[in-house]
Amino acid sequence: MTLIFLGIESSCDDTAAAVVTSERRILSSVVAGQSALHEDFGGVVPEIAARAHTEKLDHAVQQALDEAGLSLADLDGIAVTAGPGLIGGVLAGVMLAKGLAAGTGLPLIGVNHLAGHALTPRLTDNAPFPYLMLLVSGGHCQFLKVAGPEEFTRLGGTIDDAPGEAFDKLAKLLGLPQPGGPSVEADAARGDPARFALPRPLLDRPGCDLSFSGLKTAALRARDDLVRDQGGLFAQDRADLCASFQAAVAEVLVEKTRRALALCPAPVLAVAGGVAANRAIRAALEAVADAAGARFLAPPMALCTDNAAIIAWAGIEAYQAGRCDDMSLAARPRWPLDTRAAPMLGAGKRGAKA
Ligand code: KG4
Ligand code: ZN
Repeated sequence: MTLIFLGIESSCDDTAAAVVTSERRILSSVVAGQSALHEDFGGVVPEIAARAHTEKLDHAVQQALDEAGLSLADLDGIAVTAGPGLIGGVLAGVMLAKGLAAGTGLPLIGVNHLAGHALTPRLTDNAPFPYLMLLVSGGHCQFLKVAGPEEFTRLGGTIDDAPGEAFDKLAKLLGLPQPGGPSVEADAARGDPARFALPRPLLDRPGCDLSFSGLKTAALRARDDLVRDQGGLFAQDRADLCASFQAAVAEVLVEKTRRALALCPAPVLAVAGGVAANRAIRAALEAVADAAGARFLAPPMALCTDNAAIIAWAGIEAYQAGRCDDMSLAARPRWPLDTRAAPMLGAGKRGAKA
């Protein structure tokens, strides 16, 4: 029987609702971003985000139903991001989902936002379990072996910043618009990746853990040296710094992905999360997969960045596996996917995004 689920996402700065079927059809996917609200503050302000979610969520849900040509009565379940994320936003989504479930009697499924990203290749390409997932976003960076809808083994991850966060900070220190990833990528296309010798952190250490905070500091130093020596930055300097930075991130991700594939040989290497939208990084990772004889899966850009279709899909998978929540469903600011893995010092603690 085909299931139709409503998905709700509000863990960071995107207010999103979507309708998805168990046959992998996305009937609608509404994403209302909030960048204009946070622009003056140089980052996501949790309180402003939470208030905006509260104001916009019901409209997003209505729009998602309208665009799918359905009403609440046509649904089979409601999936909502219950963490990890900015707690005010997560609460707004969970409360709305509970209200809808209580009013309609529909099953309620709390979804881990990271599981939404990690299961995206199942929605887009019906990827068979197990597969290796590199999840690279604004708040997270980890290698996961995905063996089932709720079976995740963490092979390694960042010990400090996430790459998206590093892209955002580089953009900030170069005066480029937020979110930083796309701005840095655009500038990098005009730059020389070999001009600045930026570090490749942790490559000298075995395993798949990563680090990006040193890279950010090195880029800051390179900028300050230029400003001191020439009194400012020229457009070409900025482009060269962006290109050198992007090349360093790509090289580190490539080498660690090679190691993760050696540790966990899988027929599929999949990427997800906002940074997976970066074309240079995608191409570099595809080459790693090719060399290891693995199929490379990268979701379309709109499903890499935050959206509710991936949440609806993760909800469908969890529900099909027999899980269902009730009114005691809690919003969780922290929620590791692999609860057996040792917590990483500082990992995922700094970025607002998950
Ligand atoms: O997955 P996402 O939408 O939000 C979460 O973090 O969950 O990811 C957003 C992050 C931001 O840090 C943004 O700068 C980064 O993904 N990003 C990119 C690109 N597009 C988005 N980073 C590098 N290159 C891009 N093209
Ligand atoms: Zn995300």
